[in-house]
Amino acid sequence: MIPTLTDGVVTLRAHRPDDVPGVLEQSLDPVSQRWTTVPVPYSRADAEHFVGRIMPGGWADDSEWGFALEVAGRFAGSVSLRPAGDGRAEVGYGALPSARGHGHVERGLRLLLDWGFTAKDLRTVIWWAHVGNWPSRRLAWRLGFTVEGTVRDWQPQRGDLRTSWVGTLLREDPREPRTTWLDNPVVEGDGARLRPFTDADVPRVVEGLGDPGTQYWLAFLPREPDFAAGARYVEQVQERLATGHTITWAWSAADDDALLGVVGLYRIPEEAELGYWTHPEARGRGLTVRAARLAVRHAFGELGLPRLAAYASAPNAASLGVLEALGMRRTGVRRRAARTGAGEVVDLVGYDLLPDEVG
Ligand SMILES: CC(C)(COP(=O)(O)OP(=O)(O)OC[C@H]1O[C@@H](n2cnc3c(N)ncnc32)[C@H](O)[C@@H]1OP(=O)(O)O)[C@@H](O)C(=O)NCCC(=O)NCCS
Repeated sequence: MIPTLTDGVVTLRAHRPDDVPGVLEQSLDPVSQRWTTVPVPYSRADAEHFVGRIMPGGWADDSEWGFALEVAGRFAGSVSLRPAGDGRAEVGYGALPSARGHGHVERGLRLLLDWGFTAKDLRTVIWWAHVGNWPSRRLAWRLGFTVEGTVRDWQPQRGDLRTSWVGTLLREDPREPRTTWLDNPVVEGDGARLRPFTDADVPRVVEGLGDPGTQYWLAFLPREPDFAAGARYVEQVQERLATGHTITWAWSAADDDALLGVVGLYRIPEEAELGYWTHPEARGRGLTVRAARLAVRHAFGELGLPRLAAYASAPNAASLGVLEALGMRRTGVRRRAARTGAGEVVDLVGYDLLPDEVG
């Protein structure tokens, strides 16, 4: 007997024949095809097979407890638990494009997880998602999953193996976020605009990272970056927002979206540190100072940080100039604390700034 579960807004119930058009629509959606194992191409017969055979079959042999997600009387997607024995199960979910963005899947998963942990006596639920599936990861985060790491070439998808995130939720875990996921808001002023990265920034990121000046002064950035390295850089920005206590913005002129540089606040809150690099086209015009000033204002205003630090290599006159122009104070020199991209050991000049010192 397949139970019906509801929180008054969404309902989980057994799949029915009239879910077929919804299953078909969801399965033809390119986002679903990108991130799940749904067959491609997909036909109405596949949707009928899913509703009439796969879902009931999972309940019959206890290989998958799959529910239809219903909102306001309409099919909105499917959620399931796949038991793995010994109190373990894997969670799976997917929504119709029109049903996303309303928190409905989250509600459905809360019902599913409560049911799994109580009625099925589960102890641990595991979540897998291909690296890059941020909506799925965000949902898992909201539900209280702990992302344990990344497993290379693990999840099968149509003949390939996908590198995947894995997370767990234990029965006793609070069903709420376990880590801080920082916001990445647009911050505008003084002709500059800090904004989140998009995939369209990758070519400019590659140019900026690969520039000889960047390569020389910032030895920790990827060496001789290609497009894939630029894409990884943008992906890492998301990862650091989610877990790394770091906000990294792309910045541009207020009236043109082309990336001119990058500015970040690292290790928020205790050891918050300002960092930046600028595309070669945008150097020497005071633009980095404007962008960095916006980040400083955000740090002391929105984030309420008590202090901001920054470091630059002693021979890096342009970067020292930015920090001086921001009104940051020298705190000292960390001798031989950095290496240039060419391998030379250099001193690192430390600065800091307090909220009441901002000009
Ligand atoms: C995963 C899925 C079910 C999520 O549905 P949803 O929760 O209704 O989707 P939303 O659009 O509200 O996105 C969820 C969250 O991700 C956030 N998000 C979306 N894109 C993001 C990105 N690129 N970076 C960071 N966060 C992102 C949204 O802002 C939202 O956050 P919020 O809850 O704080 O507002 C839906 O996207 C889907 O069906 N995807 C295809 C199937 C799939 O991927 N299933 C999971 C396989 S593991």
